[in-house]
Amino acid sequence: MKRLRALPGTLFERHEITAEPDVFRARQAVGRAMDALGAKVIRKTRLVTAVSEIFRNALIYGGSAVVRIYCDAEDRMVWVDCSDNGPGIADMTLAMSDGYTSGRGLGRGLGGAKRLADEFEIVSEPGVGTQVRLAGRA
Ligand SMILES: Nc1ncnc2c1ncn2[C@@H]1O[C@H](COP(=O)(O)OP(=O)(O)OP(=O)(O)O)[C@@H](O)[C@H]1O
Ligand SMILES: [Mg+2]
Repeated sequence: MKRLRALPGTLFERHEITAEPDVFRARQAVGRAMDALGAKVIRKTRLVTAVSEIFRNALIYGGSAVVRIYCDAEDRMVWVDCSDNGPGIADMTLAMSDGYTSGRGLGRGLGGAKRLADEFEIVSEPGVGTQVRLAGRA
């Protein structure tokens, strides 16, 4: 699978998501990273909400994931990489469209996350996995 390039900044925390409580821990860590850059509550909430959707997808559909959080103090950006080795996404256009779900969701997670984040990239390959990279300005 094509992998996205290395993230800017320095590694803040790395988390493994294998169960529901890990989603909470990883999203708290993203909040702390935004705090470290002095983010306003509204900006912090936006990124935390966006990553929550991505982490939950990674757990539900991907089975498990590795999350890396980077702080770029120069640009005042928090970057988050979430990679899973799940079944991948065959039709990205369909998956990204609001209202589409292969499960029992509302199908609003990916589109919502993209709108909330300041940067958003997703790559996926069926049978290999999915990598999402998103960022929020502090
Ligand atoms: N990490 C992933 N691995 C495999 N498939 C994924 C992954 N993330 C999303 N998908 C697919 O993309 C679809 C759309 O995801 P999205 O988050 O927008 O909606 P949802 O999870 O179905 O519902 P909601 O997030 O609104 O509860 C999912 O139903 C699933 O088929
Ligand atoms: Mg979802």
